[in-house]
Amino acid sequence: MHLNLENSIVLVTGGTASIGKAIVETFLEEGATVLYCSRNCTGKEFENEKAIGTKLDICDKEAVGRWIQDSADKFGGLDIVVSNVSALAVPDTPENWALTFQTDIDAAVNLIKLSLPHLEKSTRSPCIITIASVSGVSHDMSAPGPYGPFKAALIHYSHNLARELAPKGVRVNIVSPGNIYDKDGFWGSVEKGNKEFFDKMIGLNPTGRMGTTKEVADAVVFLSSPRSSFTSGANLMVDGVYRVGTQF
Ligand SMILES: NC(=O)c1ccc[n+]([C@@H]2O[C@H](COP(=O)([O-])OP(=O)(O)OC[C@H]3O[C@@H](n4cnc5c(N)ncnc54)[C@H](OP(=O)(O)O)[C@@H]3O)[C@@H](O)[C@H]2O)c1
Repeated sequence: MHLNLENSIVLVTGGTASIGKAIVETFLEEGATVLYCSRNCTGKEFENEKAIGTKLDICDKEAVGRWIQDSADKFGGLDIVVSNVSALAVPDTPENWALTFQTDIDAAVNLIKLSLPHLEKSTRSPCIITIASVSGVSHDMSAPGPYGPFKAALIHYSHNLARELAPKGVRVNIVSPGNIYDKDGFWGSVEKGNKEFFDKMIGLNPTGRMGTTKEVADAVVFLSSPRSSFTSGANLMVDGVYRVGTQF
């Protein structure tokens, strides 16, 4: 299937590691121009002239505003925005509730609001993708901390936004990964630090494995492409049917 992304201008937050990095790579494979950011970004993460990195913290609203405006000015607009960053602050502490609200909700809403004037002008089936989690739809090992509740809020916000923006031709979709393995990522560090827990988590997935970052990235890129032009408000679970409840 040809995804028609060669002329697309894509913004990805947290594009330098794990899932975000795979998302950037997959858009690049499809010929898109990708603007990505992270707090420690060097701009040299990808050997591809269509990948442009910026060092910024998505909680710095002014820096995000400048990044979006500069990107749209330089490349003549924006077509796709992927909100990928999470604080990934799992333990149930007051600090983590505040940090997770700031990063997973407040910064994501700011990113989307500032991108919207540009997306509304796009003629390439513009789309916003928010990266949530299976933790947003079910009880899991992150309970009772802030991670799942704020992912649930992100899913609800994204669905509401899909309804609000449909008349303007802007789609909004959610991708909810299950446990995704990357040797340098979260589950790679659990594997090194607590092999017993890691094996237990593998055992909870009926596929007998965790997902790959590429499997999440492929879902993101397909859903955001013009080939998904009538799909909006979807929450695509990329979890190897890890969740127990039926998804209606
Ligand atoms: N991994 C999983 O199993 C899994 C499962 C379900 C859902 N998810 C979701 O998938 C998304 C990505 O997770 P991941 O595991 O790939 O994360 P990760 O390995 O921790 O990578 C996070 C990326 O975001 C950047 N980042 C973190 N905080 C930032 C900030 N405040 N401003 C700008 N950039 C920031 C990091 O770079 P810097 O450190 O340089 O900023 C890095 O590039 C998250 O929304 C997560 O909740 C992951």
